[in-house]
Amino acid sequence: MRKKFVFVLILICSVSFAFGQNREKIDINEGWRFFRYENNPDSLIYDERPAVFDKNDVKDADTRATLQNHGNASNKSLKMYILPTANEFIKDKNKHYERPDGNPGKDFPFVKNDFNDSDWQYIDLPHDWAIDKPFYTEENAIVGGGMGRLPVQGVAWYRRKIDIPKSDSGKEIYLDIDGAMSYAMVWLNGNLVGGWPYGYNSFRLNLTPFVNFEGDNQLAIRLDNPTNSSRWYPGAGIYRNVWLVKTSPVHVAHWGTFIKTENISEKSATITISIDIDNNSTKNQDVEILTDIYRLDNDLKISGNKVATFPKQNIVIEAREKSKIRNTVNIKNPLLWGVYSQQEQNMYLAINRLFINNKLIDTYETRFGIRDIKFDAEKGLLINGEKIRIQGVNQHHDLGALGAAFNLRAAERQLEMLRELGCNAIRLAHNPPAPELLELTDRMGFLVIDEIFDCWEKGKNPLDFHLIFPDWYEADIRAFIRRDKNHPSIIAWSFGNEVGEQYTDEPGAAVAWKLAALVKDEDSTRPTTASMNFAKPDMPFPQTMDIISLNYQGEGIRDAAAYSHLKGIKTPPLYRAFHQKFPDKMIVSSETASALSSRGTYFFPVFAGNSAPVSEDSGGNDTLRQVSAYELYTSPFGSSADKVFAMQDNHPFVAGEFVWTGWDHLGEPTPYYSSRSSYCGIIDLAGFKKDRFYLYQSRWRPELPIVHILPHWNWESRTGQITPVHIFTSGDEAELFLNGKSLGKKKKDKFEYRLRWDSVVYEPGILKAVAYKDGKQWAIHEVKTTGIPVKIALSADRNVIDADGKDISFVTVRILDSDGNLVPNADNKIWFEISGTGEIVATDNGNPADMISFASKERSAFGGLALVIMRGKKGKKGEMKLTARSERLDSGSVIISSR
Ligand code: GAL
Repeated sequence: MRKKFVFVLILICSVSFAFGQNREKIDINEGWRFFRYENNPDSLIYDERPAVFDKNDVKDADTRATLQNHGNASNKSLKMYILPTANEFIKDKNKHYERPDGNPGKDFPFVKNDFNDSDWQYIDLPHDWAIDKPFYTEENAIVGGGMGRLPVQGVAWYRRKIDIPKSDSGKEIYLDIDGAMSYAMVWLNGNLVGGWPYGYNSFRLNLTPFVNFEGDNQLAIRLDNPTNSSRWYPGAGIYRNVWLVKTSPVHVAHWGTFIKTENISEKSATITISIDIDNNSTKNQDVEILTDIYRLDNDLKISGNKVATFPKQNIVIEAREKSKIRNTVNIKNPLLWGVYSQQEQNMYLAINRLFINNKLIDTYETRFGIRDIKFDAEKGLLINGEKIRIQGVNQHHDLGALGAAFNLRAAERQLEMLRELGCNAIRLAHNPPAPELLELTDRMGFLVIDEIFDCWEKGKNPLDFHLIFPDWYEADIRAFIRRDKNHPSIIAWSFGNEVGEQYTDEPGAAVAWKLAALVKDEDSTRPTTASMNFAKPDMPFPQTMDIISLNYQGEGIRDAAAYSHLKGIKTPPLYRAFHQKFPDKMIVSSETASALSSRGTYFFPVFAGNSAPVSEDSGGNDTLRQVSAYELYTSPFGSSADKVFAMQDNHPFVAGEFVWTGWDHLGEPTPYYSSRSSYCGIIDLAGFKKDRFYLYQSRWRPELPIVHILPHWNWESRTGQITPVHIFTSGDEAELFLNGKSLGKKKKDKFEYRLRWDSVVYEPGILKAVAYKDGKQWAIHEVKTTGIPVKIALSADRNVIDADGKDISFVTVRILDSDGNLVPNADNKIWFEISGTGEIVATDNGNPADMISFASKERSAFGGLALVIMRGKKGKKGEMKLTARSERLDSGSVIISSR
C-alpha cells in the first residue's frame, strides 16, 4: 500500500535545545570569524607533503591509480599531536598513539584568546569559502577543471568564542564537527586539542580538559586544503554543521548505540540494542539503564505511546573505562521501513535513560527502522520479502551553486527530483555525506550505498587520501560506520571506488580483505563492497566483496564498434562471467552510463548507432564546450542509457544500476576541462531536467504516461536539412506528426528504448508525438517552433520560506515568446534585483561552460532557463521581491514571503 508522503522540513535552528536531561546539543554555527591566507601561510602543518610534478587533471576517470606515498613525516609537523584523535577508532590498544609533550602552536597569535579577529570576515557555518569566488579561467590554473576551477586551495582559520557557563563545571564538553575540508586542527584557549584530516568524515573532540569554566573560551580551527588532492570539487571550509555537546561524565558514548532488527514478520520483530557507555569520572559507577521504543510519525516526531520497553539493566563501570551492554526486546506487529514508492517508510525511536542512584544522568535517542533485506544472486534485492529493482543514481556531495556547504532544503530538492524520476537508490560517490542527508533518505525511502574512499594506498592524485591512508584508514572506516549504522536506508558499505589495488592481484586483495574485515567488525549486518572497473572474475580482488559492484564492466568498456579506436581499459561485457564465478553473490552496477550531455543543446549529424564516445565530430563541440543532448554520447569508457538498459534486460539476475550520475556535479567536467562542472547528470547543475530525464523516467515509472520529443524545434538555419527526431516514452509505440502530417508510427523492438525518426527534414512548425500502450492512446507531447524572446517569467519552488537565514527558495527563470512558450535556445543576459526581507545567494543556468561566478546577479539564460537561489534574512519576516530584467524583454518578478 502506498502512503501519501508528507514532508515537513525540520530546520536546524541556531538555538540551544535540550537533548534530554543532562545532555545538551547546541548548534554553534553562527558568529564565526574567518581568515584565509592569500599567500605565505603559517607553518603549523599537519605533515610535509610531496612536491607535485604531475599537475595534469585532464585524465580519463578510469586511468589506473598508481601513486604511492613513501612517507614524509617531518619533526616539524603536528601529525603526532593529531593522530591520538584516532585512538577511539583503533581497536588494538597497542596501536594507540601517544601524544608527545608540548603544545604546538601555542604562541601563534590566531589561537590565542586575546587575538583581535574583528577585521576577519564574519560568517555563519556551514561555509564553503570558494563557492562564491570567481572561477579560474586561465590555462594551467592553480586549481584546474577537475577540482572545479574555484579557489579551494590553501590554509584558512575559523575562530569563535563559545559560551560555557560556570554551571557546566563537572560536565563533559565536546565539539562535534560534521565535516571540515580538510586537515582540521583545533585549538581551545591556546591548547591544541586534536583534529581530523579526512574532510568527509564527522568527528568529535573532547574539549573538557582545556575548558575554562570561569571565563572566556576561544576556539580556533585551522584547515588546509591542498590542490591536486581530488578528482572533483571538494569544497573548502567548515562545510557542515558544528555542535557543542554537553554530557555528564557518565553517558552514552559518541555514536554509542547500535540497533539490529531480526526475525521480522508481520507479527513481531526482535530488536537488539547495544549501548556503549563511557565513565569519564574518577570512580566506579553503578549505572541503571532503561530503554523504551516509540513509533515516529512522518515528521520524525514521537507518535503515541511507547511500543516496547527493554528489560531494565544495571552495570558497574570502572573509573575512566567504557562498557558495552546488550539488550533484546520483541515488538509486536512491527511497521516496516521500505522503499519509496513501493513501500512505506516507518521509523522508530529508541530512548536510553541512564540513572545513577535513581538520578537521571543521561538521555540518548536513536532513530531506526525495521526492515528485512536479502541480497540474492538470482533475484537481486529483496526488501521485506518484496523484490526491489535498484533504480539508482550516483550523487556527489556538492549542491551546485551552493557548493559543498550543506543546506537541508537544497539536499531535499535534489532528492525530490530524483523521486520524480523514479529513482529509488543512491550511491554516495565517493565519500560519507552530511548526516542530515541520511535522515532525508530514511524519511523519503531511498536505498543508500554509503561509500568512504576513492583511493587506498595507491593514489589517483598526487595529494589525495593515499598520503594519509596508512595512518587513518582504520579510524576513518570505523568512524564512518559508527556514525551511520542505524539508518535503515543504508543497505551496504562500500569501502572503495575503482582503487588502484584492483591491479595488483594478491597484494591489492590483501588490502581489500583488511578493510572488509574492519567494516564487518563494526557492522556484521550489512554486506561490504567496493566498486570495480578493472578487477576480473578470476582475480583475487572480487573475492573480498559480499556484493559484486561493477563500474561499467557489466555492459563492457570501450567494446562497441564506435569505441574500438580508443586507448585505455577494454573489457567485454562481464555480467555473466561474474555471475558464473560468484553464483552466490548479488551483482549490481554501481556505475553505469557516464553518458554526457548539455541540456537543450543538439549537434548534427546525429550518431546512427545507440552509443558513441564524444568527439569533435560526434556529439561534441570543443569551442562551445558542449555535448549534444541526443543522449547517445558518452565518456570514453561509458555507454548510453539505451545500451545499459539492453545489457541489464539481457541479464535479469543483475539487481539494477546506479547511473553515473543523478545530478551534474562541480568539477570533473569530462570531456572539457576548461569548464567548471560535469556533463554526466540526468539533471543539470541548476536542477533542470535534461532530455535523458524522460528516458529514465519512462523506464523507472512505466505506469506514468510519458512521451517526450527531442530536439527542440527552433532551427531556422536548418530548413530543408535532415534533423532527426527521437522520442522517449513509457508507451510501446508512437506516431510522430510534423505540421499535422504523419511521419509514421513506430514500435519499440525488444531491447529498444527510444523511437527514432532519423530522416525528418526540418520545417518550422509543430512536432507532435502520440504514444500508445497496448494499442491505446497513452500520452501526447508537442514541441513548437517559438517566436522570439519577449518576456521573462519567474516562478519559485516555494513561495513561503522560513526567516531563519537558512531556508531557501529556488526560482526558475524562463524566457518566453509572446505566446508564453519557452524559447528553448534563448541565451539573453538577465539582471536580478531583490528588495525586502531576502537576499540572492547564487545564480546559475546549468551550463557547465558558464564561467561567471555563482555569486553574480547577472546570468545569461541557457536553453531558455536560469536559476536564482534566494534566502530569507535571518529574523526578518515579511516579503521579498525578486525582479529580473533584460534588454528588450519585459521584466518579470516574483514575491516570496519569509516567516
Ligand atoms: C568513474 C569514476 C567516477 C567518475 C566517472 C566519470 O570511473 O568512478 O568517480 O569519475 O568515472 O565519468
